[in-house]
Formats: sequence, structure tokens, C-alpha cells
Amino acid sequence: MAYSDKVIEHYENPRNVGSFDNEDPTVGSGMVGAPACGDVMKLQIKVNDAGIIEDARFKTYGCGSAIASSSLVTEWVKGKSLDQAGAIKNTEIAEELALPPVKIHCSILAEDAIKAAIADYKNKHSSK
Ligand code: FES
Ligand code: FES
Repeated sequence: MAYSDKVIEHYENPRNVGSFDNEDPTVGSGMVGAPACGDVMKLQIKVNDAGIIEDARFKTYGCGSAIASSSLVTEWVKGKSLDQAGAIKNTEIAEELALPPVKIHCSILAEDAIKAAIADYKNKHSSK
């Protein structure tokens, strides 16, 4: 199956690969797995005092579409509020990357990962 140019571009030049220190209170981490194929995606956000996502990192053990989806999402969330980032839909990711139907679950992984990272950040800050 052929990958779209955008998938290949992100796959060859992934943005924001790496990780932040999970102990950092400004960091939220989400790790999700795809039951369909066993791939794993870790996505982290760094949030400033104003509640805006300043930076993001990912590590993805998966196919090209999963890597491209996570790379794209780390770019999209920067400068967004938690609510705005949480509203990103997998369909927007799939459309941007022109993912074929069998690769839709790769974009769902990215949506789930950003939601998990936001939930983790909120969880860290709920007690104070
Ligand atoms: Fe897991 Fe895509 S099937 S790499
Ligand atoms: Fe499973 Fe892409 S994440 S095939």
C-alpha cells in the first residue's frame, strides 16, 4: 500500500521526537496502544502557567502512519489550550495525512494519546 506524501514527509522528518521528564509538574504524559496491531504511542505535553501547551514530544513504536500522526499532532497542539488540544479529532489527522481506511486506527491512536496526556496533566494538578 502506498503512503501519502505527507505521511512520508513526517516519517522521514519526524517533529518533536523524544521525551520530557515525567516528574516535571508542567508535563502531561499519555501512553496508548493499538489493539489492532500492537503499536504503542507515547505523547507528552509541556504546559505553561497560562494553561497553554508550549511544547510536545512523542515516541512511537509503530507504522509510518502512526509516526506521522503523532508527529503531526505534536505540531498541532503547540500554542493551544488544553481544551483546544483535546478537541483535535482523529478524522482531522487522517484527512491531513490522507490516510486510507485500514490506517484510520493509527490516527485514533494519536487522538487517544493527546487526550491521555491532557488527562494526566489535569490529574497532576487536580489536588492543588
Ligand atoms: Fe502495527 Fe502498522 S500494523 S505497524
Ligand atoms: Fe497500527 Fe498504524 S498504528 S498500523
